[in-house]
Parts: sequence; C-alpha cells; structure tokens
Amino acid sequence: KRLIFIGPPGSGKGTQSPIVKDEFCLCHLSTGDMLRAAVASKTPLGLKAKEAMDKVCSFLFLTCLLIVSIAFVDWIIVFCDFFIGALVTDELVVGIIDEAMNKPKCQKGFILDGFPRTVAQAEKLDEMLKKRGTGIDKVLNFAIDDSVLEERITGRWIHPSSGRSYHTKFAPPKTPGVDDITGEPLIQRKDDNAEVLRSRLAAFHTQTEPVIDYYAKKAVLTNIHAEKAPQEVTSEVQKALS
Ligand code: AP5
Ligand code: ZN
Repeated sequence: KRLIFIGPPGSGKGTQSPIVKDEFCLCHLSTGDMLRAAVASKTPLGLKAKEAMDKVCSFLFLTCLLIVSIAFVDWIIVFCDFFIGALVTDELVVGIIDEAMNKPKCQKGFILDGFPRTVAQAEKLDEMLKKRGTGIDKVLNFAIDDSVLEERITGRWIHPSSGRSYHTKFAPPKTPGVDDITGEPLIQRKDDNAEVLRSRLAAFHTQTEPVIDYYAKKAVLTNIHAEKAPQEVTSEVQKALS
C-alpha cells in the first residue's frame, strides 16, 4: 500500500502511523521526524537546513539586538525553530523522500506522514512516483476541529530517538516523563506550545488544505473522524484501508 496521512498538527497522524505500518508491513516516512533528526545529527540535509536557518537567524539576531531589547531573543529562537521547515525547499524534501523510498523496508509500501504539505510538493511527488511506475493508493484526511488541538499539542511528550509519543492525559506513559520501552527520558518538542501552534495551524489552512482538494479530485481521499478516541480512530483507519 502507498498511503498519505494528511491533517493538522496534533490530528493523530504520528499516533496512527506505527499501528498501520506494523499491520501492513509498510515504512513510516515522517518529514517532520526526518528534519528534526537531520538537524540533531548534523547530516548534510540537517546542515543545509541549519545553515539556511542560521543565515536568517543571525540577520534577525543582529537587527533585533540593535533595535530592540534582549528580552526578544527568546521569541527569535522560537521563530527560528519554527522556520526550519519553511527554509527547506520542496526539492530537498522530495529528495529525502525519494532516497528513503529506496530502502528495503519501503519496498512493500509506505505511509507518508506530514508530506506533501503544499500543492507543489504533491505535484513533485506525482512526478517522482510516475518515474518509479507507481502512484498513491489512498490519502487519509485526519479531519478535526482546530479547538481540540491545543490540548493535544501542549500535552504531548516524545521519546526523541524512536519518535514514540505520549500524552499526559490521553496516552500517559507508565512512569511520568519516562519512555515505556527504553526507560529513557521524554521531552517536549520546541514547537509544541500554544503560540507556535497558531502559526502551524495557519500554515496548514493556507498551504496544506489545497493538497486535500488536490487528492479529492483524484478520487483517492477518505475522511477520518480524527476527534474520536485513539482506538476508534484506529478502527476507522483500518476500515478505510481494508
Ligand atoms: P511534523 O512533525 O509533521 O508536525 P505536524 O504536521 O505539525 O504534525 P504533528 O506531529 O504535530 O501532529 P500529529 O498528527 O503527528 O499528532 P500526534 O499523532 O503526535 O512537522 C514539524 C515541522 O517540520 C512543520 O511544522 C514544518 O515546519 C516542518 N516540515 C515537516 N514536513 C515538511 C515538509 N514536507 N515540507 C516543509 N516543511 C516540513 O498526536 C498529538 C498528541 O495527541 C499526542 O500526544 C497523542 O498522544 C495525542 N493523540 C493522538 N491521537 C489522539 C486521539 N484520537 N485522542 C486524544 N489524543 C490523541
Ligand atoms: Zn507527527
């Protein structure tokens, strides 16, 4: 199966992906996870993203240090973190997906989580799959009201090396702050706060919603009621894929 999971921040794409991945022996490709890992491990992609980010940020830092007080620096750091993705070009993101699809674990199919998030990326993905003689089988749209998302995002804790995620209220770990499997500490993503969520949601509505229409026109789209409880969402996803 060749699948795309699309939806706003906190809609449950990353929660449902590992379940579907195991059930159908697929690989789970999350561009958000890949970009965070690339920056953290300083791979060529990460360095490029960071380099682009540093250029903008050093300019902003210098300008802001000159004209406003030091109190604004925290905001600039949040701003820079948020724009890691924005500075990574569509070509670069499609390139990392293309490379990842060559891995043996992706040969039975894949779940694309958080990609494509612009119509330009969707068109480039189509070209890339056409060259491989394949296409997308199904796109699941995790439809949910914005008002539910702040509680989900601000309560999320992740295990950085595996990408496993928990929620203080909806999916708590056995021991608070500790990964169930490795016993390692959990962290919160830097972009998981109410202010940055507002910008991420705005980007979703302007840039990613047109991607939903793009796939609706291709008649591969299924809507999922993503506001339901996690197990109910899993059942709906399984039904859509059966
Ligand atoms: P990315 O990591 O993809 O973030 P996102 O799209 O904002 O999505 P999230 O990971 O926040 O949400 P999710 O749907 O996976 O939620 P989850 O299942 O964890 O991207 C990060 C950034 O990288 C982007 O902002 C962008 O800048 C950049 N980027 C990424 N891809 C890019 C691309 N292609 N091009 C350019 N830039 C790119 O659930 C959230 C929480 O809710 C968890 O705690 C979970 O336990 C809980 N939960 C899940 N389901 C339920 C439920 N049914 N009921 C109650 N709680 C639930
Ligand atoms: Zn995610």
